[in-house]
Amino acid sequence: MEILDFFRKRKSIRQFTKQKVSDNFLDKIITAAELAPSAGNLQPWRFIVVKDEEMIKLITESTYQGASSTNPPQSWIKEADLLLVVCIDNQKTVEKYGEMGAATSAQDVAAAVENILLAAAGLDLGACWIAGFREAEIRPILQIPEQVQLTALIPLGHTEFDPPRRKRLPRKEILFYEKYNNNKI
Ligand SMILES: Cc1cc2nc3c(=O)[nH]c(=O)nc-3n(C[C@H](O)[C@H](O)[C@H](O)COP(=O)(O)O)c2cc1C
Repeated sequence: MEILDFFRKRKSIRQFTKQKVSDNFLDKIITAAELAPSAGNLQPWRFIVVKDEEMIKLITESTYQGASSTNPPQSWIKEADLLLVVCIDNQKTVEKYGEMGAATSAQDVAAAVENILLAAAGLDLGACWIAGFREAEIRPILQIPEQVQLTALIPLGHTEFDPPRRKRLPRKEILFYEKYNNNKI
């Protein structure tokens, strides 16, 4: 496969079939996450696999559409076969790097999430990065300890849906040479 085709295959998928995600696929996805880089190799990512339908429904109720936490839930999430709940335990990173550790841990875990999304696409599974949720409501449901942050939800499932690719910004808005805002070499 041409390298960019691999990246283009990943799209946010919000429709799923009823087919179960096999443990083998799930294992590959978690392995992909573990292969992400992390500051000091401290691997602050933690994952909770939620397969129980009622738990998924409950968590979905604590999600919201768009930018306001009072908006209605992202109901499509409950159609996923499973939810990967992505957490950050940055204690070791903060011990080692001080304040900067909080920021690097967030970057580490974001890298792991992208690996998960790419692995899911490679396995022809649908997945989506979700940040629209009320953390305080979900924490007790999953018994997440105080020192651990909940950073993303990833609904995962088989899909027959292939949405159009979302547009990217013009290159000149994001790429500069030598100095910020300089578009010419
Ligand atoms: C940090 C982050 C948070 C996101 N939160 C949500 C979300 O709550 N709900 C949702 O449907 N999509 C969410 N997305 C997915 C984006 O909408 C999607 O990545 C973007 O529109 C580009 O589309 P693509 O992923 O298909 O390329 C999120 C993506 C990121 C990186």
